[in-house]
Amino acid sequence: MQSADNAGGQSGASLSKSTVLVEFDAGIAWVTLNRPEKRNAMSPTLNREMLEVLEELETDSRCGVVVLTGAGESFTAGMDLKEYFRETDNASAAVKLRVRRAAGEWQWRKLRHFAKPTIAMVNGWCFGGAFTPLVSCDLAIAADEATFGLSEINWGIIPAGNVTKAVSEAMLPRAALYYIMTGETFGGQTARETGLVNESVPLAQLRARTRALAMTLLGKNPTVLRQAKNAFKRVGSMDWDLSEDYIGAKAEQTAAQDPEKGRQKGLTQFLDEKSIRPGLEGYKRGD
Ligand code: COA
Repeated sequence: MQSADNAGGQSGASLSKSTVLVEFDAGIAWVTLNRPEKRNAMSPTLNREMLEVLEELETDSRCGVVVLTGAGESFTAGMDLKEYFRETDNASAAVKLRVRRAAGEWQWRKLRHFAKPTIAMVNGWCFGGAFTPLVSCDLAIAADEATFGLSEINWGIIPAGNVTKAVSEAMLPRAALYYIMTGETFGGQTARETGLVNESVPLAQLRARTRALAMTLLGKNPTVLRQAKNAFKRVGSMDWDLSEDYIGAKAEQTAAQDPEKGRQKGLTQFLDEKSIRPGLEGYKRGD
């Protein structure tokens, strides 16, 4: 089932770019950072192309859920130290602005409030700047064998590009500071224990587990999912009074906008038809 603003997709068109692979599979858009020879380091080209891909996927009816992953043995080795940093060190202010902005635009601005659910599937190396899109995805599943590191300290910078903000939100504070200050690497299970990812599974099971999670999300009401995740992400910076007001308004807006009228269906099926128990299962979405 598609949401109303999801209904006009570009049937059949390939969204793949020179550095990003996009594959559709039963409502899942598998988005693969695709520079394996450079460990999927995020160059200015990749950043520009990722922004284009995400913008297109937001209104493409083939996509109900985005899975972000990396080609080969890496999720991403972070910002491209050559193309993003060294080669722009002496660029004009205008070029620097364009290059820096393109990175932030997709890595957190677009991803954090993306109109559809997003899952980061961390398959391997995950360093530095990688933490921003990782945390900006709604959910994350890692391979036990993946290697994470806030490696900035190892080459003399602080975790910028909102990496510090990302880990302050997702990781236990002592763990975040430890890895910021030591640059030590850690694996998928530690990423799970410290809150950085939801789950960590053996690499051989990573794709199947991620696909199963994506299918679960595809079974939910897309309008409610979008509103619920955005509300969660926005209330963090609000006080309780403002938050109560905001969430109340969002709940009313959701009910008014929902083309499948999920709230009525859920109430009817539980209270009148006695055909579901919402504590244990979702309402039946067909009419
Ligand atoms: N930026 C630019 N190029 C990168 C890169 C990055 N972040 N990470 C890897 N590469 C490039 C290497 O320069 C090398 O290019 P070359 O073949 O033209 O020499 C290629 O990718 C392979 O890297 P290599 O180091 O040989 O691979 P490896 O498998 O032995 O090690 C890593 C993989 C990820 C451990 C290692 O490449 C690394 O430490 N990368 C930097 C990670 C980092 O600190 N990122 C934070 C950025 S904020």
